Amino acid sequence: MKNELIRKTYIEVDMDTLKSNVDKIIKEYHNYDYYIGVVKGDVYGHGSYTINAFLESGVNYLAVSSLEEALNIRNINKDIPILCLEPIDLDFVLLAYQNNITLTVSNLEYLKKLVEIIKDKSLKIHIKINSGMNRLGFSTKEDVEEAFHMILENYTLEGIFTHLATLGISDPYYDMQINKFLELTQNIDLKKIPIVHIGRSLTLINHPKIPFCNGIRLGIIMYGFNQSPKKDTSFKGSLRQIKADMRIKKYHISETTLDCNIKVEEAFSLYTEVMEIQKIKKGESTGYGVSYKAEEDEFIAICPIGYADGFSRRNSGRFVWINDKKYPIVGSVNMGMIQIKIDENVHIKDKVELLGKHIPVKYASKYIGTTPYECMCMMHEAVPRVYVKEGKVVHIENWKVNS
Ligand SMILES: Cc1ncc(COP(=O)(O)O)c(C=O)c1O
Repeated sequence: MKNELIRKTYIEVDMDTLKSNVDKIIKEYHNYDYYIGVVKGDVYGHGSYTINAFLESGVNYLAVSSLEEALNIRNINKDIPILCLEPIDLDFVLLAYQNNITLTVSNLEYLKKLVEIIKDKSLKIHIKINSGMNRLGFSTKEDVEEAFHMILENYTLEGIFTHLATLGISDPYYDMQINKFLELTQNIDLKKIPIVHIGRSLTLINHPKIPFCNGIRLGIIMYGFNQSPKKDTSFKGSLRQIKADMRIKKYHISETTLDCNIKVEEAFSLYTEVMEIQKIKKGESTGYGVSYKAEEDEFIAICPIGYADGFSRRNSGRFVWINDKKYPIVGSVNMGMIQIKIDENVHIKDKVELLGKHIPVKYASKYIGTTPYECMCMMHEAVPRVYVKEGKVVHIENWKVNS
């Protein structure tokens, strides 16, 4: 039962593609000691088994958002270091410690309370610096200094990091944040901290390596999205570039690279199947609200996927692919079903591609007015994840059936 798909609506994750993405990234940017795979949001929607592809290709640390996510991954891998990027509720820090989860400490009050709960040199801590995102982190050098000594005394101070709010390509924010990080850490010896990590995917490909960092947090690029801005060679684009160049000069913006050509590929596909076929007459409608009216006698395929699965209502009107041909979704996306206008070549049980080779997440996410991050994370965890290696299914994560 565990490895069977009841409803043939599932996400397929291509493990070879993910492995190859990370191989390419590490080969191209080989001068880091720590490649921290950001696997929050249930591994950007891919599901926890995915981490195996990353670990096989050189990711040597993982980062998550919450203790729940960390424990979920700990169930699969007992050894890989896992950093929880957000502070864990003090009522649960013992649980984190017992499971060898690395804590983020982002303010002094939290740290003082932590010391009352746990005193053990084996507990690993990373300090979070607020360099300008104003989300989490220490904001004064005095607090950073006090935390540094307190952590050295009680725990293993393993890392220090910050997060960048912008790309900093033609705005000065990137440089401002790096300078702020250096200012806030000027009273401590960064060399005493084994892992210093600041950058994310776009920092890696758009900026030279930050000299004092030996760790990089890899997120969206591992999943196959090279979001590096492309040079726009049109007349308007050239004018914009002249303006950008003037800003770069005026604000002494540091060196950046455009048009990074690293070829990473998406590994996330979404499929369903044809469950039933209706024949409707010209002028008849299908689905809620009688919004769609057939222009002629039509065949309508009904498929078991809907917004309860995370397939947004905003997908109404877009195309899906069946047997290498595209067909439109008609009427609105329901909670658990969609209607597709088909022809006589489509049959019950035919496989329907909603995301994948013909419809990359990159384009589908634009259609529904969001980002690839949200498009993948919004898929409900109850949609089974099917993992494929060398064309064969190697694992199925089927939340509803497993539990
Ligand atoms: C703290 C932190 N670091 C790194 C990342 C990875 O960012 P990206 O996916 O843009 O590489 C994230 C993503 O949300 C994050 O919150």
